[in-house]
Amino acid sequence: MASGIGYGKVILFGEHFVVYGLPAIASAISDTTVAEATLARGAGGLEAGPETFVLEGDGWTLYDNRPETPGYKKEKAAEQRRAVELILSHLGIDTRKNPVNLALGGALKAASGVGASAAACAAIARALSSLFDLGLTDEEINRAAHEGEKGFHGTPSGIDDTAATYGGLFLFKKEQPTNHIEMIRLRRPLEIVLGNTGITSSTKAVVEEVRRRREAAPEKFSRIFSEAEALALEAKEALERGDVGRVGTLMTRNHELLRELGVSCEELERLVELAIRAGAPGAKLTGTGRGGLMVALTPGVDLQERVARAIENAGFTALRTRIGC
Ligand code: MEV
Repeated sequence: MASGIGYGKVILFGEHFVVYGLPAIASAISDTTVAEATLARGAGGLEAGPETFVLEGDGWTLYDNRPETPGYKKEKAAEQRRAVELILSHLGIDTRKNPVNLALGGALKAASGVGASAAACAAIARALSSLFDLGLTDEEINRAAHEGEKGFHGTPSGIDDTAATYGGLFLFKKEQPTNHIEMIRLRRPLEIVLGNTGITSSTKAVVEEVRRRREAAPEKFSRIFSEAEALALEAKEALERGDVGRVGTLMTRNHELLRELGVSCEELERLVELAIRAGAPGAKLTGTGRGGLMVALTPGVDLQERVARAIENAGFTALRTRIGC
């Protein structure tokens, strides 16, 4: 059996803006997705358990055992199938000749906002590389994961698959022929809390809607885009000098800009408010928006616990994790 991993991620600054070539900052989180791959005819194949979500393709079967936001896997089934097909075709693997079984597991929740699709793509690419002795480098895994991500959102910026492949905390800019990636070093790891709205959103649909809104109001969007760019660049410096107060202020401002883009929702607003009221220096939606996750900066385990409890007491689920480890 061959296996591979992909990191979950959180976008701290610049989601959506990154699609238009503006800088964004993302960090891997400690939860990962693990993929396993076997030749379907070989011994020790993979099997479905009672909780497994099964997807069938042409010569391949995917057993999805990841924990999930209820309904996520079903809602994303067509996109997940397309992603597997795109990865197989990119790697030149013909599963009609070499049938494979794939399985997804690991602690990373299959949920909107946490890079679940990219983590699955990177993990599958790594497992296939190992199964077929392809010897792919991280750069090639990133490229395969990027192809897979197209199955989920058509024209991904590349930030999610980069985080899923390499991990770490970094500033990212979509560029040709290669993306600009600058690693960011923190003086010490920072605690964060992710609050889950429980709503699965479609990145493809939300990105497309932002595109339409921008076309309808170019001047308004140009002002928002300029501020978003300056904000991400300042955030990198504030992160590096350990100015958590300023990082928090910039995160909350980033959230306001995303709200102006039209990608927030009632539940995300509530989560941001709960986090700030509980003492977080900053909070914002993270990822696609319109559901998915909120990220709050919560330096220190005491504050982290207070913010997570406030979120849980209001009926949402919270994930306690760290960035910059
Ligand atoms: C989704 O995690 C991030 C978006 O910016 C889309 C992308 O970067 O491709 C909304």
